[in-house]
Amino acid sequence: MPIDILGSIIFEGTDAVPGWNYIKQYGPAVAVIGGIKYYFGGSSNTWERDLHGKVFLVTGGTAGVGLEVVHDLGIRGAQVVLLVRSTEDSWTVDFVEDMRTRTDNFMIYAEECDLNSLHSVRKFATKWLDNKPPRRIDGVICCASESIPAGKERQFTTDRVEKQIGVNYLAHYHLLTLLSPALKVQPPDRDVRVVIVSCASQGLGQIDENDILWEKRRYPQKQPWQVYGTSKLMLGLFACEIQRRFESFERKDKAACNVRVNIVNPGFMRSPSTRRFVSMGTVWGLLVYLLLYPLFYLFFKSTSQGAQSIFYALYAPVFKESYGGNLVSECKIIEPARKEYGDEELQKHLFDATEKHIATLERNSAIQRKKNEKAAEATGKKTGASDNGKSAQASLAEKSTSPSELDEKLRMLKNSLGVSTASPDPLLRPDQLSDPSSSTKKPSKPSSKTSSRKTSKK
Ligand SMILES: NC(=O)c1ccc[n+]([C@@H]2O[C@H](COP(=O)([O-])OP(=O)(O)OC[C@H]3O[C@@H](n4cnc5c(N)ncnc54)[C@H](OP(=O)(O)O)[C@@H]3O)[C@@H](O)[C@H]2O)c1
Repeated sequence: MPIDILGSIIFEGTDAVPGWNYIKQYGPAVAVIGGIKYYFGGSSNTWERDLHGKVFLVTGGTAGVGLEVVHDLGIRGAQVVLLVRSTEDSWTVDFVEDMRTRTDNFMIYAEECDLNSLHSVRKFATKWLDNKPPRRIDGVICCASESIPAGKERQFTTDRVEKQIGVNYLAHYHLLTLLSPALKVQPPDRDVRVVIVSCASQGLGQIDENDILWEKRRYPQKQPWQVYGTSKLMLGLFACEIQRRFESFERKDKAACNVRVNIVNPGFMRSPSTRRFVSMGTVWGLLVYLLLYPLFYLFFKSTSQGAQSIFYALYAPVFKESYGGNLVSECKIIEPARKEYGDEELQKHLFDATEKHIATLERNSAIQRKKNEKAAEATGKKTGASDNGKSAQASLAEKSTSPSELDEKLRMLKNSLGVSTASPDPLLRPDQLSDPSSSTKKPSKPSSKTSSRKTSKK
């Protein structure tokens, strides 16, 4: 068809092409728009890797770019463990089922690891490390993030840390440091890759060594991306430091380090977090987002386009050979713009200071949890006491299924009537128990028929 049109233009002139006037009028604009869309779509990964039998942990795998990552890993045959807020929520169950069907891979699972809580992260990591024999692990992909829209008040994690710092930085720090014994001891021929998903907003990050958790500084309500960017910048610096610690770890088999931690900037995408951020969680904001959608469509990547640099960091052989701590963007390694990436002292200080903060936060949260448990127990006892009578009556009205249950019910009945239980209990038949008022009558001995039926049932 295009050849026919070209032929007509060359041999018969442009007038022979139907609708030429329209093509002349709108063609250049369409070509420019197509060019912009293509340019902003970014680069594509061309590397392949067989992932059958390999195990990957993914945070934030239920939405946005993380979902694309899980889908690709699944198609390639990897075993994928999604680290989710809750495994009990029916949406997650459906999501995993759907992902298994779409990828034709039934080795996609979900484990609870709520990044909002350091305790939840620890519980997951401990469970993982407790596996005997130790579980294989080929990679961890940290996609999850929390971005608070402008205009909202400071929000907190369960450990009372600013939410963006808590989820994006602290939780991933905690997860990877807790999992590091498992990562470090993978067999030397295994190509273990950790990918930390960052963002261009790290350029706006402001690290204050004396206020890592942004506790002392005023929360920039109108520019929350400063805090978001800080969390991402600290995550990037953490990646460089943990890579150095992996390198300096002396393996028992004296083999070289086979864990590579790299940082990936996927570029701006039309993901749920972008929608939430632009709409600011309001209906008006959503309307603005919809009105501006053509611009987002043109200048922002789809999540599958954004995932390309993550695939590159996971599949390209260059990362097996080179030292980790690289910043990847548009499917290539780039030089970080922030000078902090070259400051090993700062990275080390940040790493150690964060470790101390986490220890304090975990301790405080544990004390708070204990207090809450005690308070709940106390209120439970109070309400339990008033409910006791009702539930005992209800259980007495139910048919007993064994002689011992029958004995127990009789004892309860006697207690409630203030009758001494010191003498040996005569057995009550279930039909006598169904009406609590019958207990006032002297219980008759069970007939041999009833008792033999019960025994034979047992
Ligand atoms: N969107 C962009 O334009 C852009 C640009 C540059 C970099 N990035 C980076 O790309 C990554 C993914 O961004 P996205 O836009 O694709 O995000 P998204 O669509 O908002 O998805 C965020 C994911 O994180 C999970 N998550 C959030 N809080 C969690 C918690 N407390 N515990 C467990 N999981 C939690 C979410 O789980 P639920 O489904 O349970 O909420 C969801 O799966 C982020 O690291 C972001 O910084 C994004």
